[in-house]
Amino acid sequence: MHFSSLLSENPLVLAPLAGYTDLAFRLLCREAGAGICVTEMISCHGLVHGQKNTLVLLNSTPADRPLGVQLFGAEPEAMARAVALIEPGQADCIDINMGCPVRKVTRKGAGSALMKTPELAGEIIRAVVKQAAMPVTVKFRSGWTQDAITAPDFARMAEQAGAAAVTVHGRTWSQGFSGTADWKVIRKVKEAVSIPVIGNGDVLSYEDSLAMRRETGCDGVMIGRGALGNPWVFSPAGRPASLSARMPMLRRHLELAREFLPAEKMLFRIKNHLARYLTGLPGASRIRQQIMASKDLDDLYLFIEGLT
Ligand SMILES: Cc1cc2nc3c(=O)[nH]c(=O)nc-3n(C[C@H](O)[C@H](O)[C@H](O)COP(=O)(O)O)c2cc1C
Repeated sequence: MHFSSLLSENPLVLAPLAGYTDLAFRLLCREAGAGICVTEMISCHGLVHGQKNTLVLLNSTPADRPLGVQLFGAEPEAMARAVALIEPGQADCIDINMGCPVRKVTRKGAGSALMKTPELAGEIIRAVVKQAAMPVTVKFRSGWTQDAITAPDFARMAEQAGAAAVTVHGRTWSQGFSGTADWKVIRKVKEAVSIPVIGNGDVLSYEDSLAMRRETGCDGVMIGRGALGNPWVFSPAGRPASLSARMPMLRRHLELAREFLPAEKMLFRIKNHLARYLTGLPGASRIRQQIMASKDLDDLYLFIEGLT
């Protein structure tokens, strides 16, 4: 299917979030109304070398569609070799990470460092497009610093290099995750290219997603932190106000985690997710402490089952 048809069917996209957007969470967000979901970022080198910890990030099921597999790396050849390992049935698009500000990634020239080397970024996109059996999308930031808002030029470059769509996070590299996302840059990118544009940054509710579409004209809205402990963000009704009304989602999350995640390794991750469902509730800190104190999944399951 054409990438733009995926977005017109459902414009709400679950962002790649390292440490969070595993198979269980993606399935949950789909049940709650998300369209395209994206894996955590995957190292091209890890994939090429068949590293176990990397391969696990590709775990998926037929219900986990449409799926974007996100890759990061700074060498066109390695990126192309990694993409060649992804079968057409495994993903609906390959997303290239050109926005990650974490030093571990940028010091090797990958992630948002590629916004400083647009020629290399173009080579990477062309190499991946040539090799990929599916559409290729590119995710980047508004620019490097407030004085270098390069996203519109960068988007034009990505379009010329063969990208099927771009995602723009309205923060600069130097902002990291602080301050607010500038949605005006998303509008400028939309005006600069003719491929679909997915807007990203600070969408915390379904209403925010409508506002972003209205204000920027973007074709899709990507939601990251706003979905944590809150998969209801993908539906108009939003997050329920009481613990009892939130419980079915919490239980379903735990059920999917038990079914699809490598059990004990994931205990901390699951606890971290579950604790986030309690935001704004009376007695939240006591329940959160008990979640964190659970010794294993069975212990956690018993505690969650016992909550009203
Ligand atoms: C914990 C965490 C992990 C993230 N991991 C990734 C990642 O793997 N790949 C990526 O492109 N962006 C990653 N991001 C950035 C998000 O995808 C998104 O662009 C950013 O959080 C802004 O959107 P939001 O305001 O909806 O959260 C991460 C952000 C956070 C907070």
